[in-house]
Amino acid sequence: MPATKVIVNLPDEAPYDVRIGAGVLGGLGAHVAALPALASVRRALVVTDGNVAPLYAARTKESLAQAGFRVSDIVVPAGEESKSLEVAGEVWEAMAALALGRDSVVVALGGGVVGDLAGFAASTYMRGVPVVQVPTTLLAMVDSSVGGKTGVNLEAGKNLVGTFKQPAYVCADTATLATLPAREWTCGCAEIAKSAVIDSDDFFFWLADAAEALAARDEETAAEAIARSVVFKADVVAADKTESRGVRECLNYGHTLGHAVEALAGYGTFSHGAAVAEGMRFAARLGVALADTPLDFVRMQDELLDDLGLPALGWAADPADMLDAMKRDKKARGGKVRFVLPRDVGDWELVDVEDDVILEHLAAWQGSKG
Ligand code: NAD
Ligand code: GLY
Repeated sequence: MPATKVIVNLPDEAPYDVRIGAGVLGGLGAHVAALPALASVRRALVVTDGNVAPLYAARTKESLAQAGFRVSDIVVPAGEESKSLEVAGEVWEAMAALALGRDSVVVALGGGVVGDLAGFAASTYMRGVPVVQVPTTLLAMVDSSVGGKTGVNLEAGKNLVGTFKQPAYVCADTATLATLPAREWTCGCAEIAKSAVIDSDDFFFWLADAAEALAARDEETAAEAIARSVVFKADVVAADKTESRGVRECLNYGHTLGHAVEALAGYGTFSHGAAVAEGMRFAARLGVALADTPLDFVRMQDELLDDLGLPALGWAADPADMLDAMKRDKKARGGKVRFVLPRDVGDWELVDVEDDVILEHLAAWQGSKG
C-alpha cells in the first residue's frame, strides 16, 4: 500500500507534510534532512516514553543518524503524568546538558502525551527550535500531531499551559499501530468518529461502511481513516489556527460531557475514547432539543459508535456533580457550559446552554442508565 501525503497549509506558517503509511518511519531522517526550513539543523533530540522507546526509538534514531544528524534521546515515563512542568523542565535541562543549540530539531516519538510535551519543550527551549511529530497512537495520528497545540497540565486542570507550535513534518507510520493496546485503538476511533460527524456526509457515510473494518484494525481502512481525519483537521485549523474564531472548538465535540465523565468516574476508569463517545451521544440528544437535530441522526451516530466498539456506558453520575465538573473545565464560558451541538452530519453550532437545561438532560441521561 503506497504512502499518502497530506499537505497542511496554514495562514502565516510554512506548509508541512503529513506522511501516512506502513514503513514511512524508515524515511524520516532523509525527509527531515531535505526540509529547506531545517537546512541548518545538525542535531536531533528524540523525545519518547517508556513504552514506545523499546519498540521504535532505535529505528527512529537510526533513520536520523543515517541522514547525518547527531542524535540523542530522552525517555519520559509513559502516561498523562508526564505532561507536567516538572517533566518539561527535565526535557529543557536535558537539552541544555546536551548543549543543544538552535541547530537542533526535537522529534516527538509517541502518543499525544509525548507530542504535546515535546512540542511544548521545543517551542520554548531557546525561544523555539523546530519539532517533528512521529505519532504512534491512532489518536495522535488523527488528531494531536497536527494543528500545533502543545501543552502541559497543571493541578488546576489539563492543558492550562501551552503554545501553538506547528510541526515541520509529521511522520505517521501505520506499522507502529500493530503494538497499540486495544483500549488506545478505540480512543483513536472516537476521534475519527468525531471528525466524520463534524466534517461531512462523505466522511460520515464512508466511516459508517468502514466502521467494522476499522474496529477490527484493518490496515488499509485505518490508513484511509487517518488521511481523512488529517485533511479534516488541517481544514479546521486553517480556518481558525489559534481557536479564536469559533471554528476550532468543533474539535471539542463530545468532549464537554466526556471530560466530566472521565473526571467523575476517576481518570482511567473509562478510556478517553469511551468518554468522548458518550459525550457525542449526549450532545446529539441535546441537539434534538436545542438545535433541531433529527432523530435519524441520533440513531445513525449511535450505530456508528456501536460498530466502532464504543457502546453506550452503563454508568452515570449525579447531574449536579456532572454540571460542576463541566464548569470546572476550561472551556466553560461566562459561567455557562458551551457545547458543540450537531445540527446534522457536517453541520454544527456552538451553544452556551443554561444550567437548568443541562440538568434536565443530565437527569434523562442518568435515568437512561437504569
Ligand atoms: P498517550 O500518549 O498516553 O499514549 C497512550 C498509551 O499508548 C501510552 O501508554 C503510550 O506509551 C502507549 N503507546 C503509544 N504508542 C504506542 C505503540 N505504537 N505501541 C504500544 N504502545 C504505545 O495517549 P494519546 O491518547 O496518544 O494522547 C492523549 C494526549 O493527547 C492527552 O494528553 C491529550 O490532551 C492530548 N491531545 C492533544 C491534542 C492536540 O491537538 N495537541 C489533541 C487531542 C489530544
Ligand atoms: N482540541 C484539539 C485541537 O484543537 O487541536
